[in-house]
Amino acid sequence: MPQKMLVTYALPYANGSLHLGHLVGMIQTDIWVRFQKMQPETQCLFICGCDGHGTPIMIQAEKLNISPEKLIDEVKENQERDLKDFWIDLDNYYTTHSKENHTLVETFYERHLKKGNISKHTIKQAYDPEKNMFLPDRYIKGECPRCGAKDQYGDSCEVCGATYAPTELKNPYSTLSGAKPIEKESEHYFFKLQNYTDLLKQWMHKQTLQSQVIHKLDEWFEMGLREWDISRDAPYFGFNIPGESHKYFYVWFDAPMGYMASFVNLQKRRSDLDFDAYWGKESTFDLYQFIGKDIMYFHTLFWPALLQGANFRMPTAVFCHGFLTVDGQKMSKSRGTFIKARTYLNHLNPEYLRYYLATKLNERIEDLDISFEDFMQRVNADLVGKYINIASRSASFIHKYFDNQLSKALLEPELFKTFVDKSASISEKYKNREFSVAIREIMGLADLANQYVDAKKPWASIKDPQNKEEVHAVCTMALNLFRLLTIYLKPVLPDTAKKIEAFLNIPELHFEDRHQPLLDHTIQIFTPLLKRLEKTDIDALKKEALQHAQNNG
Ligand code: MSP
Ligand code: ZN
Repeated sequence: MPQKMLVTYALPYANGSLHLGHLVGMIQTDIWVRFQKMQPETQCLFICGCDGHGTPIMIQAEKLNISPEKLIDEVKENQERDLKDFWIDLDNYYTTHSKENHTLVETFYERHLKKGNISKHTIKQAYDPEKNMFLPDRYIKGECPRCGAKDQYGDSCEVCGATYAPTELKNPYSTLSGAKPIEKESEHYFFKLQNYTDLLKQWMHKQTLQSQVIHKLDEWFEMGLREWDISRDAPYFGFNIPGESHKYFYVWFDAPMGYMASFVNLQKRRSDLDFDAYWGKESTFDLYQFIGKDIMYFHTLFWPALLQGANFRMPTAVFCHGFLTVDGQKMSKSRGTFIKARTYLNHLNPEYLRYYLATKLNERIEDLDISFEDFMQRVNADLVGKYINIASRSASFIHKYFDNQLSKALLEPELFKTFVDKSASISEKYKNREFSVAIREIMGLADLANQYVDAKKPWASIKDPQNKEEVHAVCTMALNLFRLLTIYLKPVLPDTAKKIEAFLNIPELHFEDRHQPLLDHTIQIFTPLLKRLEKTDIDALKKEALQHAQNNG
């Protein structure tokens, strides 16, 4: 019986389109999932969706003069299209603003209420007296208490770098109305996270969490877990708290339940999926959750505690990744490095980004940088120069002289075996999310394949009719090595792999197929599969990104 796994990636907010930052984690998860899907011993589902609640979504809908529901629908569709075009192989993309999620949030809430995990008390918060709403910190600006710089946010100063509390800002104003915020009291609901300290510690030690995550958790336990504010006052966009007309669940309360809601929604199309088998306390299936480092607290403390207390299973592992920088800096609109997924797609092949990120991704929580100079060199040198080159230099002979037919015997079984045997190590790297090492090993094999063709020189041998048979065997050998490389690269380059399957005239490749060489078989005409990346493509991409930034002010 294959081991069943459910894999999730963090649900992007529904207030805008996806950018390259979102794609880091999506692509990381997708490569991992596609690797799993190519193994006979696992059966894997990959679900995600958009996160539809919270103040920014409400404000954005207001700005566009549409309902939040309509905004979510549009953004969801747009995000789904982007993800599909980046070959993200999702089994379902749903939304937290759904019937399924509403039911779930009420179930969670009731169960925790019964257990005495919910408390209520009054707190003071910043309030916009013109807009008549409580203000999240991000909507308050003012003068830096240290250097006096204007228009600084309530946590740190962009000019002098000082950090401070929002209440320390001088002459604070609401970015929504310009009014001076006042303090106002309101009753809030809290989840007593501290009740789960011991269970969370046990969970943490049972799991294979990254060492940096364990370190962070130790720090948080050291400081002591505290109750967590799970309510927000109207106006807010979210689910009403039962029995309250003007209070809503905080977006982060129902957001992770959105993973489950996406699963429940998928069940409509997949009657074979059993909810309890995946989510029940006794589940023997795996639940892997990929996220970015900024949302670790929610996924390693709140969410497991909410699951545990509501009688559901906890995650098997939470895998955290770092942030994307472009040319060594945070993505920036003014520098033209804030690049939306669609802007990228308008100019460059999505598999180039997948490949480039794969050459950089590892299991640690490290930020990773795209420098487009390096990006272009890597893609051209590895994919075009090494990998595809093996096929383009051998396929032409098979067509021209051998009627598209591969030879009957395998010329170099030893070399073939070297490639097959490398699978164990490459698979290990994929499994452990050491993609950069996997790629290095695969490219090492590509070098071997090219050296082999270089040494055999089929273009020279073919001139003597006596060598015809040897050339046939050499080119067949080279295409077999190319086929093995294609298996290993398929999690990263799914579309190219599909085109190669068509070229080789074979069914979908799986890792198991590596053992059997492809011989005495008719292939199709080879067409160039990946084109060289030109500086002009990158310039055009940057230009469009800059234009977008200027249009949005
Ligand atoms: N809606 C929440 C997640 C709820 S999960 C129950 C959220 N949304 S987000 O749109 O801000 O981020 C979605 C994912 O993208 C997160 O994993 C986040 O870490 C990741 N990234 C957003 N910007 C990023 C970069 N610049 N670089 C890498 N990942 C980034 O958080
Ligand atoms: Zn300052």
